[in-house]
Amino acid sequence: MRRHFLIRCFHWVLAVGIVVNYEFLESGGEPHEWLGWALGALVLLRIAAGFISRGDASFAGLNLSPRLVLQDLRSLAGTYPEHENHSAAGSWMIVLMLTLVVLLAITGWMQDLDAFWGEDWLQNIHEWLAHALVALAALHVLAVVFIQFGHGIPLLRRIGFGR
Ligand code: HEM
Ligand code: HEM
Repeated sequence: MRRHFLIRCFHWVLAVGIVVNYEFLESGGEPHEWLGWALGALVLLRIAAGFISRGDASFAGLNLSPRLVLQDLRSLAGTYPEHENHSAAGSWMIVLMLTLVVLLAITGWMQDLDAFWGEDWLQNIHEWLAHALVALAALHVLAVVFIQFGHGIPLLRRIGFGR
């Protein structure tokens, strides 16, 4: 089932925005800061929607049971069932990626404060949060592609590819 139009828009703006900010914009330049702010704001809206909405955006659709995460990972190697909503592993992935964007916006903002101006440790934390986010996103894409083509479960249409 396709996700709500706003979820699909959110997904692609976030994905493209993160790649552009990580890979293409001068680190710490104005465009980098503005795009980072915009993505941070977008994710805060998404989180608010998660608590308010009763539809596709609702966080009630997440399943954060640690036991089910192990089961999901095991079933990747065997028979993978289609989840009506998010799998537990997928739910954790979503929570972690959204959290990392918020932490990037916070550590980005802190770098502009007089109190932390030019602090190496803060720059390093910001940088490692960005590496972690991109590594998780890569894992997320690999998992989606593997579930779609290895297990024949149509995940891609949820975010807008095909019918
Ligand atoms: C930097 C790149 C990416 C990031 C940060 C990212 C992040 C996310 C997030 C946060 C969600 C949850 C959406 C929500 O409920 O609001 C999601 C869902 C999803 N993403 Fe990505 N994504 C990225 C790239 C991709 C790519 C390239 C693909 C396809 C090849 C993809 C496939 C999916 C699918 C199929 C879902 C929906 C799963 C479902 O609703 O059950 N993502 N992604
Ligand atoms: C999705 C959001 C963001 C991503 C993926 C991201 C990623 C990065 C990366 C990879 C670097 C390079 C680190 C290095 O090589 O030293 C960097 C640097 C920097 N970012 Fe961000 N960032 C984001 C948001 C922000 C925001 C919101 C701000 C500020 C408002 C910000 C301010 C900075 C600054 C000042 C630097 C330069 C640090 C230095 O001199 O090493 N970033 N960011």
